[in-house]
Amino acid sequence: LNNGLARTPQMGWNSWNFFACNINETVIKETADALIYTGLAELGYIYVNIDDCWSSPTRNLQGNLAPDPETFPSGIKALADYIHEKGLKLGIYSDAGAFTCQVRPGSLFHERADAELFASWDVDYLKYDNCYNLGIIPEERYPPMHEALNATGHTIFYSLCEWGVDDPALWAGGVGNSWRTTDDINDSWASMTTTADLNDKWATYAGPGGWNDPDMLEVGNGGMTFQEYRAHFSIWALMKAPLLIGCDVRNMTAETLEILSNKEVIAVNQDSLGVQGRKVYAEGKDNCRQVWAGPLSGNRLVVAFWNRCSKAVTITAKWEVLGLHPTIKVSVRDIWKHEDVAEVALTSFSTRVDSHDCKMYVFTPQILSYVAA
Ligand code: GLA
Repeated sequence: LNNGLARTPQMGWNSWNFFACNINETVIKETADALIYTGLAELGYIYVNIDDCWSSPTRNLQGNLAPDPETFPSGIKALADYIHEKGLKLGIYSDAGAFTCQVRPGSLFHERADAELFASWDVDYLKYDNCYNLGIIPEERYPPMHEALNATGHTIFYSLCEWGVDDPALWAGGVGNSWRTTDDINDSWASMTTTADLNDKWATYAGPGGWNDPDMLEVGNGGMTFQEYRAHFSIWALMKAPLLIGCDVRNMTAETLEILSNKEVIAVNQDSLGVQGRKVYAEGKDNCRQVWAGPLSGNRLVVAFWNRCSKAVTITAKWEVLGLHPTIKVSVRDIWKHEDVAEVALTSFSTRVDSHDCKMYVFTPQILSYVAA
């Protein structure tokens, strides 16, 4: 969507994956504080996004959405002011249906009024869900909210959460800044790998202004190992997915923070070229040795070696698979370790990877120099 936003994938936090419906204004404020004191905000995680359950179970007497008086007694505008004072941005949630998934009022047929309300609260971001949609196709339900947001005169990030229904990559580019390509992720290796594969299919449709969204991060929620979370974060970064933290950032382990705050991995996600990396090679039992790669600015490449096998393996990326000329020399940097690993590599690069782990490198091709015969 050409609204000036999402030139690179959105980064921030969302309440759903960890808190589900157990949210209130204190949790949101403390999360904003934690994004600052952990240093995550400075690394680019600036959206603080409230998911489902912020709203009162019914519209008010004027027919407007209203915050739940028990959990958000100070109102959303006050929260937006708090968040903005810290240099962060506030996101809110609604649904392109009669109700949200947790049966709070939805915005279908209330697009104008609700968009104006969000704008009057100085909200910066809307996640727009797909429950209770009355059987109307998403291609009809999502554009009216885009128009309504646009009409407010405020610039509001528009995140479509239509769960990949009707192949949004094909129609959502002019509607939203990101669109979900899959069902909900959950905090497991099986869900994370399936979600990655589904999202991969739509790579060519992503770019500045509009991104494929394989759902929010589960890093730090406890259902995967350190290696699996590192793979999750690597592949989300490489796929130019939104990097929306889904854990309790007030109580993160050092390992979780280490993953989420890797500057060089974040830089892959936020690279100005904005091309979604892809699975370019897979071999072995159940295709468990995988290479994922994509172009970066400055003629560089990001190359990830993802071991989905049950034990440590060596994975090789041949130049032909990466689209590199057979004689090109490449300098290789390990971006998890922040180390240059080899002076130059020629024709292929191999590395040993632990089970369910992912190694990630930036390849910088060297200028060819021929010796005159
Ligand atoms: C749907 C969405 C989730 C979350 C919940 C909230 O399942 O896909 O991301 O927003 O609703 O109820």
